[in-house]
Amino acid sequence: MDLKKLVANEIHRHVAEHLSEEQVYGLLEKPKHAEHGDIAFPAFSLAKTFRKAPQMIAQDLAEKIDSPAISKTEPVGPYLNFFLNKEVISAEILKEVVTQKDDYGQSDYGKGQTVPIDMSSPNIAKPMSMGHLRSTVIGNALANIVEKVGYKPVKINHLGDWGTQFGKLIVAYKKWGDVEKVEQNPIAELLKLYVQFHEVAEEQPELEDEARAWFKKLEDGDQEATELWTRFRSESLKEFMTVYDMLDIQFDSFNGEAFYNDKMDEVIALLEEKGVLTQDRGATIVDLEKYNLNPALIKKSDGATLYITRDLAAAIYRKRTYDFALSLYAVGNEQSNHFKQLKAVLKEMGYDWADDMHHIPFGLITQGGKKLSTRKGKVILLEEVLNEATSLALEQINLKNPTLENKEDVAKQVGVGAVVFHDLRNDRLNNFDFVLEEVVQFEGETGPYVQYTNARALSILRKAGVELDLAAPLHLADDYAWGVLKLINSFPDIIMSSFEKFEPSVIAKYSLQLSQAFNRYYANTKVLVEDEERNARLVLVKATSVILQESLRLLGVKAPERM
Ligand code: ARG
Repeated sequence: MDLKKLVANEIHRHVAEHLSEEQVYGLLEKPKHAEHGDIAFPAFSLAKTFRKAPQMIAQDLAEKIDSPAISKTEPVGPYLNFFLNKEVISAEILKEVVTQKDDYGQSDYGKGQTVPIDMSSPNIAKPMSMGHLRSTVIGNALANIVEKVGYKPVKINHLGDWGTQFGKLIVAYKKWGDVEKVEQNPIAELLKLYVQFHEVAEEQPELEDEARAWFKKLEDGDQEATELWTRFRSESLKEFMTVYDMLDIQFDSFNGEAFYNDKMDEVIALLEEKGVLTQDRGATIVDLEKYNLNPALIKKSDGATLYITRDLAAAIYRKRTYDFALSLYAVGNEQSNHFKQLKAVLKEMGYDWADDMHHIPFGLITQGGKKLSTRKGKVILLEEVLNEATSLALEQINLKNPTLENKEDVAKQVGVGAVVFHDLRNDRLNNFDFVLEEVVQFEGETGPYVQYTNARALSILRKAGVELDLAAPLHLADDYAWGVLKLINSFPDIIMSSFEKFEPSVIAKYSLQLSQAFNRYYANTKVLVEDEERNARLVLVKATSVILQESLRLLGVKAPERM
């Protein structure tokens, strides 16, 4: 419920000749100190109109205000402060949440409009990195968030499945590859071949020429090259799928870089037509000096296209296919320059919709303050991280709740959820250190803490064993209950703000706050005691679990009923 709107509506009744309700709404402020009330109206905004001192206006207005939702008003200097009637309002909030359930906070802001989200996008024949994990979970949360504000998200895995490295792989595979080994352990084997290629090529530079020739064959649709590439791609994808399955994240499209191969000629033709191409020592570039950027290299001297050329094709394809309102790219901060160039080239081509494209950058996951690197064999396998998180969660469950049913399933939801939550809890641009033991804790600022709070709320409701009665009085006014209610009531604003900032951490932090407020409430209140407020308290418990579950769902974290 919009409390400001409620007050604006009441004030407006008395000043309707001078201000619209929207204007009143826009003027309302939050008092700096809670003891000054919940909402303040600056009466000086009417001083000119009324030709009266603001103090007088506040005084006069105070006498007219008459609404059951407002318990008192207090003129203080040029302000009129409003104190809300917590009992009336808490009842309204509770009813709203418990009837709307997971629809609470849903808006139609983006109705009828589509938002493609470029996310995950690992490179074929290489292990998926922690950076790709970040892109996957941030992209997935953003998809849920844009959907919550009414858009239709399209989750696109822009696989790195094209480029000169495939020429190298083909050469290495033909020389040293072993079919069976690759099938058993595709990514590890392909990575080995790739590393081997570079080692040998140091002594035998002619291998590089062979690789270039094979990539050329691949680009031209040669059968053998295409068959090998198809195999590398599908075997790698199978391995990525196990990680996506563990995260329970699905995609709407796997159109990776290769998908745009046959769309390159058109892009080059368009660039030519718009007259933005120049030649530079045999290479074809777009000069971006007026944007203060390096030139974008579109085509190499041997005619091969590049990463950015394929991204240009992808951007144009997405605009044509989805007619997007916004187009998001959840990609690491280190590619900021690339996305600036991409947008600048599109602007040069006269595509103003480039302004609707947003790079959503994020920081690095570090270990002991150092960057994790996939090079030099120092590979962190995500599958292993998630499995380890699951066993740590199982240990915790065995300590806290050894008789729990489906312990393995719950442990998976908790372990994987812990990793995802941890990733989303920090402002996305911050680098953060990853220490698994700290991530999988039931206390502190962790995902399991939120999950545990929700499970506790559900267990209270089970213990109560009664149907909730929404028609009965739902008045709760004590400070602990109000602390929870205020947060619950702000959920729609939280969603909007996380959308506006493209920042899932807003929701993650909020869910921690709500959990803390709820646990304070529970520690200070005898929820189950049989008195006339029991039903109202249980409705508050229910409303809390509705919001916690919805917050976790938006983040892509499961909410086990028991743990
Ligand atoms: N495959 C790239 C990488 O791993 C990320 C692709 C991001 N998406 C894009 N449209 N460029 O670095």
